[in-house]
Formats: sequence, C-alpha cells, structure tokens
Amino acid sequence: MSQALLTLDFLDKETLAPEATPSGEVRVTAATRTGRQRKLYIESYGCQMNFSDSEIVSSILFDEGFDTTDDLASADLVLLNTCSIREKAEQTVRMRLSQINSHKKRNPGLLVGVLGCMAERLKSKFLEEEKIVDLVVGPDAYRDLPQLISQVDGGQKGVNVLLSREETYADITPVRLNSNGVSAFISIMRGCDNMCSFCVVPFTRGRERSRDAHSILREAAELVAAGYKEVTLLGQNVDSYKWASADGLEHVNFAQLLEQVARISPELRVRFSTSHPKDITDEVLHTMARYENICKFIHLPAQSGNSRVLALMNRTYDRAWYEERVQAIRRILGDDCAISSDMISGFCSETEEEHQDTMSLMDYVRYDMAYMFFYSERPGTLAARKLTDDIPLETKKRRLQEIIDKQQLHSAERNQRGIGRVHRVLAENFSKRSKEHLSGRNSQNQVVIFPRQHFVKGDYVDVLVHSASASTLLGEVVL
Ligand code: SAH
Ligand code: SF4
Ligand code: F3S
Repeated sequence: MSQALLTLDFLDKETLAPEATPSGEVRVTAATRTGRQRKLYIESYGCQMNFSDSEIVSSILFDEGFDTTDDLASADLVLLNTCSIREKAEQTVRMRLSQINSHKKRNPGLLVGVLGCMAERLKSKFLEEEKIVDLVVGPDAYRDLPQLISQVDGGQKGVNVLLSREETYADITPVRLNSNGVSAFISIMRGCDNMCSFCVVPFTRGRERSRDAHSILREAAELVAAGYKEVTLLGQNVDSYKWASADGLEHVNFAQLLEQVARISPELRVRFSTSHPKDITDEVLHTMARYENICKFIHLPAQSGNSRVLALMNRTYDRAWYEERVQAIRRILGDDCAISSDMISGFCSETEEEHQDTMSLMDYVRYDMAYMFFYSERPGTLAARKLTDDIPLETKKRRLQEIIDKQQLHSAERNQRGIGRVHRVLAENFSKRSKEHLSGRNSQNQVVIFPRQHFVKGDYVDVLVHSASASTLLGEVVL
C-alpha cells in the first residue's frame, strides 16, 4: 500500500499537523486491491478530523463493493472531503473541482461527490454552483452514502446534510489506509459548542457530542494489539469530553479517559488535541504528570494576546486566564512540557497595540510551535454578522509576518535547547532525505532524525542530539 501525501505551497516538513488545526495538506487515501468492482478515489482537505472521517467513509463504502484507488484516472467515484475554515480552503476545492471536470468530460460515467464542511455549509447550493457535483454529503450523514450513491446511479442527485446530536460513528472501525502502522488517530468527540465568533466549525460540524468511552478504549486496545505504538485522541475541544452510560452509573471526563487509555500499555504513547484554554483542568495536567507515556505536549490555541480582542472573538477567557493556565502547565509539568498555539492576525478592529499584545504573549509563553493565520471572514459566523472585517489585507499580512518571524525565533531557541540532551524517540518512518536514517518524535513532538542501524519503525530509541535544523533535531543513537 502506498502513502500518497501531496503537500500544498508553504508546507515542507516532517511533522504531523496538530490534529484539529488544518495544515494545508491534501491527503489522497491510499489504494486497496481486494478485487471489488468499483473504484473510489478520496481526497481530503482541512484537519485531521476530515482525514479520520475519510477512513470511516472508506470503511462504509468498502462494504458496498468499493476498493480505494490513489489514481484519479481509474476511479468510478471521486469524493472530495472538504474544509471551510478559511476562504482559501474553499477556493482550493473549487479549483480542484474544475480540474476534475476535465476528467469527467473524458469519462462521463464518473460520479463526483463533495463531503465534509464545505458540503455542510453550502448544502444543495453546491449542486447549482458546481454542475459536475452529483453528491453532497455532510459530516454526520456518511452512513447514508450507499443509499445516496444508488440514487445517483439511478440518474438523480444525492444530498444529505442533516446534522446529528448523537452520531459518533462509534461502531465503525476506520480503515487506516494512510497509516505508518505506528501512530493512529482516534476521534473521541464530534462537533463544537463554543461559538468562537470567527469560526465556521459549529455550523459545519454541529453540536458537540462525546463518543462512548468503551468504544474508544476498545479501539485503542485493538490498535495496540495490531502493533501501534501511539494514539492521538482527537476533538475540537477534548477537555470538554464528557460521557455517561445509558444507565447513568458511569461518568467519564477527559482526565479519566486519558488515564484509562494510558493504562492500556506503558508502551503506548498517548497524545491529544485540541485543548481549549477555558477548559483545560489541573486534573488533566496531574494525569499527564503521573503517566510517563502521556506525551508532554499541549496544543493550547490562544488566537490573540489581547483581552478585548479575545472577548470579541468570544473565546470566553482573557489574557490573565490564559497566562495562569500556562503557569499551571509549568508548575505541574515543568519546563519540559511543550506548548503550541494557533494565532489569528488582523481580527475585526484589532489595533496595532492589540497586535503587539499578541507578540508579547508569544514572548511570555515562548511557544514550541504555532499555526498562524490572518483573519478570513466566514459567512454566517457571529463575526460576519456583528463585526466589520475592517483591517486591510496588507495590514493583516504584515502582522501575520511579524508573528511568524517571532515564532521562528522561538522555535529555533527551543531546538537549540534540545542539543546535547538524550531524547526518547518513537521511530515512525524513514527520513525523507535518506533511507539510512529514521525519523520519529520525542514526547514534546519534536522531529528527531538518527541513523537507522538495526532499528525499525515502532522502536523506542534513545538519541543524543548533536545539531538542529529549522524544524528537526539530528542525533546519534545511545545504546
Ligand atoms: N478547535 C480548535 C481550533 C479549530 S480551527 C480551537 O478552538 O482552538 C483551527 C484554527 O484555525 C483555529 O484555532 C484558528 O486559529 C484558525 N481559524 C479558524 N477560523 C478562522 C478564520 N475565520 N480566519 C482565520 N483563521 C481561522
Ligand atoms: Fe471553532 Fe472555537 Fe470550536 Fe475551536 S473551539 S472549533 S475555534 S468554535
Ligand atoms: Fe476541520 Fe476545516 Fe471542517 S478545519 S472541522 S475540515 S472547516
């Protein structure tokens, strides 16, 4: 099975994206060859939730007689699993649809479907706007795909964009087609109830719901039995995970779930993302401290360093609260715990001084890494309805560049700190540049490259780091 991973413009790195943050990657689901009659080609955009959903979709359609293919030209059905987070994400999908249109001219039998957040946002309008689209299916309606496809086979269009309060696909085992066999993602919840004013996710993914804790633990245990060494628990706001059994006797919060997953095996690394600063509790931090195998890395998006802007963003914390949460991380987990962030420049009415507050928050925290964006107004959001998108594009871009430049300094500083230390690395893949080297990550999520020797992916290896490039650490194995 090949892993096809196309990378768009600015991305050239060996790291995995923090899950709930879209990385700009386009992922093509790898091929299966089991002799099924029809061929499905899926391309996924946006965040890890979409990548995970594509594995669920592949699983549903596998049972319907579809093998996956990574070759568009041989497909009978093309699905684009789309993202709406910023305007550019939607433009990318529209450009891709016009390329696919030329394939369809050569192969008129080809069916084209749009899944995910853009399908949910635009609903049946998609069929009017993009004539080549036959199917529009929202993130909670994938179980309906077989029925919708037979509708399209019968010459009609197929649309289902109903959102659900219950659907978690808990019983569907995803087919892990693009996996390295070492590291896997487990969705623990869906949707988001937070209503940050800039964000389209509550509209495209619906209400927050937590998945049955037993099904999560079962999936993690099956992954361990299949040789996996790392799981990442995924949700837009994992700290608000909350599940109760139907009889009301069992209640599981996020700290408890984390602990139960960590206890499956000390050889299993556990990561999670994303943490919302308003919800991350000391209980979670103490649980992280108690288990060596829970990775010391927290993705804690600040978005802005200014309290007035945070209030306009409806983030429901202010700068002082955020700083206190960072202090709690340092107090309970020490300096060794990495912290990363997402930042937005040029939100509605942000002044130059307020932008400087974002810069000074970055100096205060010294993030290990960050995903940085300029504000892009999304139709239907609170900000689009109530606020004016009044910062000129050049100003947004200039502020973003200042944020990026600062982060580069901090990331380099953090890489320098890694030199001369021994890091426990989970080997995940060959290095992109040399088959004689392996690439893996330490607990803090830094990529470490080292000579392969007799090691194979899935091994834990102690590496003495001797140098660092902009995004990776290089070292020698300590035996
Ligand atoms: N649930 C996560 C974030 C999910 S979206 C959280 O609350 O942190 C990932 C990131 O995209 C966000 O953290 C934000 O930085 C960015 N983003 C979301 N909407 C955006 C918009 N309209 N313009 C620019 N960036 C946006
Ligand atoms: Fe969007 Fe806020 Fe929910 Fe994150 S927490 S997905 S930014 S609404
Ligand atoms: Fe993810 Fe993009 Fe939807 S970031 S939740 S795919 S809008």
